[in-house]
Order: sequence, then structure tokens, then C-alpha cells
Amino acid sequence: MDLQTVDKYINANKDRFLDELIDLLKVPSISADPAFSKDVFRTAELLKGRLEEIGIENVEVCQTAGYPIVYGEKIVDPSLPTVLVYGHYDVQPPDPLDLWDSPPFEPVIKDEKIYARGACDDKGQMYMHVKAVELMLQTSGLPCNVKFMIEGEEEVGSDNLEVFVKANKERLKADLVLISDTGMIANDIPSITVGLRGLSYLEIEVTGPKRDLHSGLYGGAVGNPINILCDMIASLHDENKRINIPGFYNDANEVSAEDRAEMAKAPFSEEEYKADLDINATHGEAGYSTLERATIRPTLDVNGIWGGYTGEGAKTVLPSKAYAKLSCRLVPGQDPDRITNLVQNHLVAIAPPSVKVKVRPHHGGLPYLTPTDFTGYQAAHKAMETTFGKAPIPMRGGGSIPIVAMFEQELGLKSVLMGFGLDTDAIHSPNEHYGIFNYLKGIQTIPFFYKNLAELS
Ligand code: BES
Ligand code: MN
Ligand code: MN
Repeated sequence: MDLQTVDKYINANKDRFLDELIDLLKVPSISADPAFSKDVFRTAELLKGRLEEIGIENVEVCQTAGYPIVYGEKIVDPSLPTVLVYGHYDVQPPDPLDLWDSPPFEPVIKDEKIYARGACDDKGQMYMHVKAVELMLQTSGLPCNVKFMIEGEEEVGSDNLEVFVKANKERLKADLVLISDTGMIANDIPSITVGLRGLSYLEIEVTGPKRDLHSGLYGGAVGNPINILCDMIASLHDENKRINIPGFYNDANEVSAEDRAEMAKAPFSEEEYKADLDINATHGEAGYSTLERATIRPTLDVNGIWGGYTGEGAKTVLPSKAYAKLSCRLVPGQDPDRITNLVQNHLVAIAPPSVKVKVRPHHGGLPYLTPTDFTGYQAAHKAMETTFGKAPIPMRGGGSIPIVAMFEQELGLKSVLMGFGLDTDAIHSPNEHYGIFNYLKGIQTIPFFYKNLAELS
């Protein structure tokens, strides 16, 4: 396999590659919203057909207690290394809809980018693998065995994937997991994600008086649950923007000064970062850079807060209830269950006697680190070097893919996070998009990963 062969196949087929992705993006496979359940199932069937079409064998839509997992494999020679490709075909809800320039499930190409929910996260990135395997099968052949495992519940916590993995250890035997569900620094600055943060997510309900009250008759004398929830949330960070919960940082591994110095060499422009987000200043834990705050440090954020009157005009009311959803991003060393408990107990402990507090934990996930000294990482490094013409930079990512730590626990497999998205692709936001350059770059790079893996093993 060489660049010329790969590029020739991509050039001859790129319009079809785009059309096929566009078809996939038209199906609103929103796993969080039961109203779209049929569409999620339909996406799994569509994908099954696409895998069969390119010559993948034993393709199966594996039913679970939730949305199915699409599995398929091509074993060319049991003595060759086996790549387990993981990705997800479910997407985040598209709301707020009015902020989209074009409807989220009617993909359009504008400025060399495909705009649609899921374009980057993760249909576009996942489908690169299907097309790259097609390319290899149609040209010089597959240099490794491949197993596809594409799930439909990543955006809601992957609960049933865990059950599937535990029940299918034999079928999933492989040498490593290959995933494109992360990003890189820039189109001319390739990088490979070597770390993911973990996650702890909870919801809090604060109850004051048993009914909404007239804020004139009672205001000042009765604890207002919204005021109190705001006080409680404000107390969760200190003046240095450190999380003010005793024990929160106990197990959080610090990155060494040498590694931080290495990280700081990655190109990053604070000015461009601010301009992209239209903010005048960044904000975060004292003593850390913007990039460090967003990758190697734990966080606590309010994801949503509601209660009281939010309709037109003014209504003078002292509400009975207030709610918020909170998430913590976790770093290696921290355990999501322990942090969830800690935050839960802390919130209960700091609530004043004038209100009652209920805290409900949601899904969590462990952080993950990919070692750079194993053949999988080296195969990815060399592949990107070939197709970008420069060596990729190892980079810690701020997001979470909770299932990655589980692959290591249950299957003993390390994951290579070779993503082609950009932070500016607006994943989970209105106007999500994926560059055509990035989509084709992925299809071009993946065959070299297989080639290198076979050679290095
Ligand atoms: N693909 C993302 C995670 C991601 C994106 C990691 C970019 C690194 C760089 C994934 O689909 C995702 O959104 N994960 C969720 C967690 C999940 C439990 C809902 C997240 O990070 O919020
Ligand atoms: Mn994703
Ligand atoms: Mn996502």
C-alpha cells in the first residue's frame, strides 16, 4: 500500500463517500430522546447494510436492553493482528433548533464542510473507518483483521455496551481498539489524543416552602430555593477557582513539571481561542494554562439550572423548587463513584435548614490514558506522519468516552484515539460540522495505521 494507490481510490470515490455519509446524517438517531427511538434502530440497520456492502462478514445488529450494537468482522488471517474499531451512530439532541443556520438533519455542504448533527461526533468519524476498510479491500487488501463494534448509546452513557462487552469477550478478541471520536489541534497540526477525562454527573433538587408563594407576602422571611441553590453553587469554587469540596483533589494525579513543559510546546493561541468563542478573557483554576485547565485538571460545572417563573413579563413569586444539573470532569486517579458520593454528601451538608435537598447521581465514567510506547500508538503516529507530512503531537483531551477504560478492564485492550475533528467543529452545539478535508484525511490515514500495525507487530 502506498499513498498513490490510496489517493487514487479516494479521488475516484470521494463524491460517493460524501453522499453515503450524508444519507447516514439524515437519520435523527438521537439516543437521549425516546421520540426518535425508531430512527436510532433504523440507523443500526442502515449501518449493517453498509458493512455488508463492503465485504464485512457476520454482520449483526445485536439487540440489547436499549439500542443495538452493530457488529461485523473480516478475519483475513488469524495470525495477523486484529483491530477492534469502536464508534457510535447515536447523536446528541440538536436543540436549540433556532440557532441552526440549516436544519440539523438536512445536511448541507458549505465552505468545504458538512453541516449536520453528528457530522463530526461521531457518524462522520466512525464512517471514515468503514470507507477506509472498503478502500483496503478494493485495493491492496487488508493487512490486519478487523472487527467493527458501533454502538447507539454513547451519548447517554453506554450502559448496554458494557453488558455486551462482558458477554462477548471471545468474539471481541483483538490486539487493540481503534477509535476516531476525538479531535486534533489543526488541519496542519496533526495530534493524537492520549488522555480522556472521566465524568461524574448529578442532579440537585432544592425544595423550600411546599407551594409557590407571593414574594411580597413571604419574601425575606422564607428561604428562596433558587437564591439558596445559587449560594450553594457559588460556594463550590474558591477565589482561586479551585473546587471547594474537601477531598475533591485527593486522588487527582498531578502532571509532572516536565510533562507540563512538553505539553506547553503544542501550538496554542489564547487570542484565537478567545476570538473563536467571543470572550474577552478566559477563566479558571489559578496556576494552570487554558489548555491545562481544559485537559489535565478536574472541573465542576453547572450544565443547567431552572425553577420559578421564566415566562413573559414579570411574576412576583417565591418558588417552591429549584433544580440544577452538575458535572465534574475527572483526571486520572479520580474515581467517578467516589467523586459522585463526595459531591452528593457535600451538597446535602451545606444546605441550610430552611430547605430540603435531594441529589440524584447520573452516569459517570473513568478517565483514560493511552501509553505512547505501544505499537498501536506508534502505528497511528507513523500513519499521520505519512499523510500529513509531519509528526503528530501527543495531546491530552478534555472530553470523555467512558467506555474506553472499560475496554481495558474487561478486554485487556488499549485504545488508540486517532481523531480528525477540530474543537471548532461545534460538536453538541448548533451548526455542528465536519470538514471534507478531515473526513477524507481520515479515510486516507486509516489504511496506513493497518499497514504499520501489521509491520510493527
Ligand atoms: N466524542 C465525544 C467525546 C470527546 C470529544 C472526547 C472530543 C474528546 C474530544 C463523546 O461523544 C462525548 O460527547 N462524550 C460525552 C460523555 C458521555 C457520557 C455523554 C462527554 O464528553 O460529555
Ligand atoms: Mn463521540
Ligand atoms: Mn458526543
